[in-house]
Amino acid sequence: MPIDILTNAFVNGPEIIPGWPYIKAYGPLALTLGITKYYFRGSVNTWERDMHGKVYMVTGGTSGLGAEIVREIASKGAQIILLVRSVQDSWLIEYIEDLRESTDNFMIYAEECDLDSLYSVRKFATKWLDNQPPRRLDGVICCAAETIPIGKTRQTTIDGIEKQMGVNYLAHYHLLTLLAPSLRSQPPDRDVRVLIATCATQALGQIDLNDLVFENTRYETRKPYKLYGTSKLLLGLFAKDFQRRCNEYERKDKAPTNVKINLINPGLMRTPSTRRFLSMGSIWGLIIYMILYPIWFIFFKNAYEGQQSFLFALWSPIFLTMNGGQLIQECKVLKPSRKEFQDVELQKTIFDKTEELISRVEKQSAIERKRQEKIEEMSKSKEQRLKEAKERHLAELKKKQDLTEKPQDTEELQSKLNFLRQQINKEVLFPEDVSSATNAIKSNKSNSKSKKSKK
Ligand SMILES: NC(=O)c1ccc[n+]([C@@H]2O[C@H](COP(=O)([O-])OP(=O)(O)OC[C@H]3O[C@@H](n4cnc5c(N)ncnc54)[C@H](OP(=O)(O)O)[C@@H]3O)[C@@H](O)[C@H]2O)c1
Repeated sequence: MPIDILTNAFVNGPEIIPGWPYIKAYGPLALTLGITKYYFRGSVNTWERDMHGKVYMVTGGTSGLGAEIVREIASKGAQIILLVRSVQDSWLIEYIEDLRESTDNFMIYAEECDLDSLYSVRKFATKWLDNQPPRRLDGVICCAAETIPIGKTRQTTIDGIEKQMGVNYLAHYHLLTLLAPSLRSQPPDRDVRVLIATCATQALGQIDLNDLVFENTRYETRKPYKLYGTSKLLLGLFAKDFQRRCNEYERKDKAPTNVKINLINPGLMRTPSTRRFLSMGSIWGLIIYMILYPIWFIFFKNAYEGQQSFLFALWSPIFLTMNGGQLIQECKVLKPSRKEFQDVELQKTIFDKTEELISRVEKQSAIERKRQEKIEEMSKSKEQRLKEAKERHLAELKKKQDLTEKPQDTEELQSKLNFLRQQINKEVLFPEDVSSATNAIKSNKSNSKSKKSKK
């Protein structure tokens, strides 16, 4: 049929095609939009790898890009450890159950590792490292991030660090450096890959060696993306130095490092973080976001399209021979534009300064935590004392009201008599009263029945 129409149109002119005036008017626009959409969908990964038996940790695996990556690698058989804020969340239980079912993979677990708290990260990493025998780990995929919309006031982590800096940079730095012994001690034939999500906004990042995470710099509510960009830039420079340290590490078996740490830029995506950012976290913003949705639909990728460079970085064999610390975008290895990526000394300084910063912040938080624990304990013991006194009082009262116990004094005798008087008013005390009361009820019932039958 279409061939018929096309042949006919070729011989007699396009006017014979049904709906030709509309096609002529709107066709070019639809075609342009289609090509634009196709172009912005980005590159597609063409590599695949057997994931059975491999173990990956994922931060941010519950939403957007991270959730899509988890789904993909879980469906290929990998064991997944989701690092989440809290394992008590009922939504999380449902999410994991759904994921297990849809991927036919029951090796999906969650561990508590709240990136808002350096202590929580340490607790998780220590638990992991303490495991005997050491656990298998084929890689860590770092997707979690905080994106603060324009106009919102400065938000901080539990440790008092600006949220984007704390979650995007410090927490991931802390997690990966704590896990370093586990990553580095994997057997030499294991292909260990660490993937860190980065973003084009790193181009807006600002490095101030005296105030790395903007503790003292004024927070500009109209430019939160500057901090987001800085957090991603710092993360990128950390990845470079961390890779170098892994390369320099001398293994017991003298084998070269098998850990490859790479930065992945997925490109702009229509994920919850983008929606939050564009809608500025308000209802009106959300309505405008929905109205403008066709624009986001054409120019932004969905999470599935965004994950392609991650799959490329995880599955392509080129990274087996290539040094780590690369920037991967659109399934290609690119050279980062920021000159800081070539500055080894700066990267080392930032690495060391961050280590000092984390140790300072952790100490402060530990002191604060202890203080809070003491206050809680004190208020708890106060509550406990009150509860015990109340229980004692009730026990005494019960004893006083117990008629089988001989009263000790006139006050107790009085109390028992009062109790007896109350009971007399409340209920029937003697069996003959019970029988007369039952007879009265019975006669009442039969009277009402006979009245009804008369009616
Ligand atoms: N979206 C884009 O256009 C874009 C562009 C370039 C790069 N990226 C990068 O891609 C990555 C994923 O972005 P996305 O848009 O998919 O983000 P998203 O949908 O907002 O997901 C963020 C994830 O991070 C987790 N997370 C946030 N704070 C956490 C905390 N304190 N502890 C543990 N987990 C925490 C969230 O967990 P909950 O579910 O518990 O909140 C969620 O799973 C990010 O690193 C982002 O920077 C995104």
